[in-house]
Amino acid sequence: MDVRRIGVVGLGAMGAGIAQVAIEAGFEVVGREVSDELGAKAAGRIRHFLSRKVEKGQRTAAERDAAVGRLATATDLAELADCDLVIEAIVEELDAKQELFGELERLCRADAVLATNTSALSVTEIAAATSSPERVVGMHFFNPAPLMPLVEVVRAELSTDEAVEAALGVVERLGKVAVPCHDTPGFVVNRVLIPLLNDCVRVLDEARVTPESLDAAMTNGAGWPMGPCTLVDLVGIDVHVHASEALYEKLREPRMAPPPRLVAMRNAGLLGRKSGRGFYAY
Ligand code: 3HC
Repeated sequence: MDVRRIGVVGLGAMGAGIAQVAIEAGFEVVGREVSDELGAKAAGRIRHFLSRKVEKGQRTAAERDAAVGRLATATDLAELADCDLVIEAIVEELDAKQELFGELERLCRADAVLATNTSALSVTEIAAATSSPERVVGMHFFNPAPLMPLVEVVRAELSTDEAVEAALGVVERLGKVAVPCHDTPGFVVNRVLIPLLNDCVRVLDEARVTPESLDAAMTNGAGWPMGPCTLVDLVGIDVHVHASEALYEKLREPRMAPPPRLVAMRNAGLLGRKSGRGFYAY
């Protein structure tokens, strides 16, 4: 399928990042948010990052303006009716995603591919809420989406080759690296990274080190680009706890379960960078 127009549902950190890379790659994008204010905020954030690229000489102002011109925001899901591909990046709740996919199926063209950016939920379970699960795939981007090259392209139980190939073709046009995989808990990266980050948080208490020391240990001793506490703050403590719970529910491995320290932080509203405070203050 020749994908030209992409819908992105949910313009939070991930959705806005996905919309940004898509308009930069020449796709027309319709981004859906629940209010005009949130849509405008995301568009402003995208424009800010593209303007930084202009300031750094990585883009011309004309290229930025053309890219921004390819982005439309909407609050009505029906505005996505004409999209060839819709990428969902809403809250990580199965019920909410299933309801959304039911609506997308009703509103979008029958040949449109429907993708979820879920981190840790089952793509097959999301697809099962539709009567056309064959056109549902996972397209899992990494945070921050404009900077991280990987997209896991997840084949659910009933995904067709055509749907998977359409997603792979889009990833290639985005200039990103695709890793095709099957729909297993955590797919590839989170299956490894979530328990690893949970171990890192447990080590804070076991070895009695500060977040600063742990981060220094992993950046200087293991070559990580950023330390685990900085990374969990970037991902969002709520998002990380939720992904841990989802993996623990499926795999029942103790290392998957979120450490109580992270659950307490989440409950106290210390969500990391987005809330202004997590392991660090922002
Ligand atoms: N969108 C667009 N541009 C952005 C951006 C964003 N969200 N965030 C930063 N940038 C831009 C900045 O503008 C910055 O330039 P400027 O400061 O001059 O304007 C430019 O990118 C480079 O930023 P940095 O200097 O911070 O870049 P670094 O070279 O330090 O690399 C990094 C940053 C790529 C994030 C690197 O630290 C890294 O690889 N960290 C690990 C991230 C990671 O592991 N992510 C995966 C998380 S797990 C996940 O997402 C799965 C999920 O399911 C939970």
